[in-house]
Formats: sequence, C-alpha cells, structure tokens
Amino acid sequence: MDINKSEFIISAVKPAQYPNDNKREIAFVGRSNAGKSSLINAITNRRKLAKTSSTPGKTRLVNFFLINDILYFVDLPGYGYAKVSKSEKKNWGKVIETYLVNREQLKKVVLLVDCRHKPTNDDVIMYDWIKYYNYEPVVVATKSDKVSNNQLFKNMKLIRQTLGMEKHEKILPFSALNKKGKEEILEVIFDEE
Ligand code: GTP
Ligand code: MG
Repeated sequence: MDINKSEFIISAVKPAQYPNDNKREIAFVGRSNAGKSSLINAITNRRKLAKTSSTPGKTRLVNFFLINDILYFVDLPGYGYAKVSKSEKKNWGKVIETYLVNREQLKKVVLLVDCRHKPTNDDVIMYDWIKYYNYEPVVVATKSDKVSNNQLFKNMKLIRQTLGMEKHEKILPFSALNKKGKEEILEVIFDEE
C-alpha cells in the first residue's frame, strides 16, 4: 500500500489533545537526530510534513499525522540529546512516557537507530519498554546511505545483538536520502490492511 494522503493533525501537549476517533496508531521513537521526522516525510512523499533539523531536539511535542484517512503516525520527541538541561530531559521523558503507557490504539512502535552507531543505553531501555508494554517493536536502521553495504550488514547485526532482539523481530535498513527500504517499511506498517 502506498501513502497518498497525509495530514498534520495536532502537536499535543497533553493527552486530552490526542485524537480520540480510535484509529490505530504507529509511533516513531529513537534518539534525537536518528531521523524519525525525515523517515515520516520520506515515506509520505512530503518534504515538510514533519519538521526536521540537523540540530537535535527539533520535535518536542507529540505530533499526530493522519495517513490515508485510516491511521495515525505519531512523531515523538527524541531522547538522549546531551545539550539540554536536566529538567528539560525529564520533561521529554514524561512526554514520551505519558503517550506510550496504555495507549490502546497504538499497534506498533518503530524504533529508529542510526545505522552507524551501536545502540545506546537509552535505546536498550526504549526497546525493553516497547516490549514491556506489549507493543510490537519494529527496528529501523537509519541513514543507510552513509555506510557501505558491508558495514550496514555488520552494524545491523550489532544493533540486533545490543538490543537483544528476538529472531522473529524485524530490523529494516532505511535511507531518507535515497528512500531505499521504503517499500519494506510500508509493508510492515500496513500489514493489517
Ligand atoms: P528529533 O526531532 O531531534 O528527535 O530528531 P529526528 O529523529 O526527528 O531527526 P531528523 O529527521 O530531524 O533528522 C536529523 C538529521 O539527520 C537531519 O539533518 C536529517 O537531514 C538527517 N537525516 C535523517 N535521515 C537521514 C538519512 O537517511 N540519510 C542522511 N544522509 N541523513 C539523514
Ligand atoms: Mg523529529
């Protein structure tokens, strides 16, 4: 399935603002700068649907996008950005946690990891979290255009090992630059259609 309609709905500060029409939701999480907003733009074929930036910390609220009128993409603030104050970090953690706990409509959580780096402690915590709350984890190794195929293969193995992924769980390479891996991601996202 392709995405032919995508619409920004709301940047939610609090849960009362989340959409409540019971459409299913796919959330995108990961370190700040991992490429969450870029991935959303790439797979919706929209250059500026989600705000991106080379300065980490661009996404600070819970952003909902209505996709093909049937489900929501949820762009979450990134974690692990060193240059923010402790209180701000705490606040971001709260924003993410408030959304992720007991969100019945949430079907899958896509965890983005920069394919050049070993997942951090925060990534491992995030992955464990997704599993703990019984959401289906989908791991995406981003920025594949920045490494050779050989390196990508090696790093994906390292990502799998570091997160402690189970065999049946998916890890998908992706580049927002050349859109390699887009079809596979769409397939996973729409597999309930
Ligand atoms: P926060 O909103 O801070 O959590 O970051 P984010 O995860 O949404 O990252 P964002 O999409 O804003 O991308 C961060 C930077 O990485 C930007 O400069 C993007 O252009 C760049 N980037 C993202 N994806 C790719 C990719 O696949 N390839 C390359 N080469 N650069 C990418
Ligand atoms: Mg972002």
